[in-house]
Amino acid sequence: PAPTPGFPLPTKHTQQAYDPAANFTSKWTRADAKQIMAQSNPHVAPGENSMSPDVTMPEIPKDFPAMNEDVWVWDTWSLTDENANQISYKGWDVVFSLVADRHAGYGFDQRHWNARIGYFFRKTNADPAKDKWNYGGHLFLDNTSIGNTEWSGSTRLMQGNKINVFYTATTFHDVAERNAGGGGIAPDAAIAKALGNIHATKDGVTFDGFQHTKLLEPDGKLYQNKAQNPGFAFRDPYTFADPAHPGKTFMVFEGNTGGARGSYKCKQEDLGYAAGDPNAETVAQVNSTGAWFQTANVGLAVADNKDLTKWSFLPPILSANCVNDQTERPQIFIQNENGKNKYYLFTISHQFTYADGMRGPDGVYGFVGDGVRSDYQPVNNSGLALGSPTDLNMPANAPEGPDPRQNGRQFQAYSHYVQPGGLVQSFIDNVDGVRGGSLSPTVKMNFQGGVTEVDRSFGQNGLGPYGYLPTNVRVGGEGLY
Ligand code: FRU
Repeated sequence: PAPTPGFPLPTKHTQQAYDPAANFTSKWTRADAKQIMAQSNPHVAPGENSMSPDVTMPEIPKDFPAMNEDVWVWDTWSLTDENANQISYKGWDVVFSLVADRHAGYGFDQRHWNARIGYFFRKTNADPAKDKWNYGGHLFLDNTSIGNTEWSGSTRLMQGNKINVFYTATTFHDVAERNAGGGGIAPDAAIAKALGNIHATKDGVTFDGFQHTKLLEPDGKLYQNKAQNPGFAFRDPYTFADPAHPGKTFMVFEGNTGGARGSYKCKQEDLGYAAGDPNAETVAQVNSTGAWFQTANVGLAVADNKDLTKWSFLPPILSANCVNDQTERPQIFIQNENGKNKYYLFTISHQFTYADGMRGPDGVYGFVGDGVRSDYQPVNNSGLALGSPTDLNMPANAPEGPDPRQNGRQFQAYSHYVQPGGLVQSFIDNVDGVRGGSLSPTVKMNFQGGVTEVDRSFGQNGLGPYGYLPTNVRVGGEGLY
């Protein structure tokens, strides 16, 4: 790409694949992420969107409908197989969402401390614009999961009517914290799974028989643990098969670089500037700012048995040291391009988790390479795939205290999840002051060759139906089709 005056060039990434077990971690560098600002318009009126329309999620109307009157709904995923296909089970589409009681006396921002996995179902041939998702309630019986709070994960249909729910078992120790929304004793986090049964009748979908197994806790070496940092992240398991390694099951998840908080120091490879780049920062400059507090990574683990009850850590596939502190809900999406499998790693991140000197929007970020572990090329050279409308010329805000002069839709949506066909679903957080807790209109993002583009011919000016998570593979049927 032609360099933007005043900005460094992005890092060169080969996209070369390595063995999944190899000791190579791709870097989302400061030079890469600086392209977000290089591609942003410095001259918009304050509070307008400064990002390219190609990476901007279309505006959600303020009068969006609630998906459910009794529960807030946020992070959501479909029933899938290990190749990211979305499964219609005996004529029903099924989705899983984090939910929290709307009537329990706490606010939407306290949802994390009260999160449970809920599920919704609807007829596969329903009209997504008219037919509501039916709420099936909590997936697990009360007090049966590992931990006392259920955070994000993924759900796989196995043989017959067996399903495996991979989830984050978060344990809060402080009831006051749950109600106040933070500040108390840090929670424990483990990655767990529950094997259970799915049942479908003409009336709908139910689940039972869940057996829970703790799978992984952070080791403190590759993945930071609570003793090293009370604000550590270890969550959001997503499992998948890799056609390049038949018979194996892998998992990506959100982590942080191992080691005590503050012990990490930025390295040249985290900065990623080309030698002699006149717009490069020096390692000493970056380390004088505290940017080393931000140490997100995308972790990788491999299953050691067919039951998927035993797992081993592998080195992270991506790190964002000195760039950003959270790379959440990672997923691997394999797409054939010109006869070759290209691996897209998508992960969500926030504006307030960027390191000093870095700026980007809330949204989904993407990376492409030739294998699960590769020298990932950030999409659009920056990593930003799709963000909420934001004036990046203004300083970062947190959702609890937005600057009134900012774009009112800077926190309109979060937790973007890329589905087959480039359909991207997310949940509504804050549309110009109206709080969400419901699924956003699904948008379509075309991506090919490491370039993404919002498809504004999809739906109405780029906004598809609310909570549109269609299925593309049918299992069972029993005359229901
Ligand atoms: C993303 C997220 C996930 C986590 C969940 C907790 O919105 O932060 O990383 O599992 O929300 O509510």
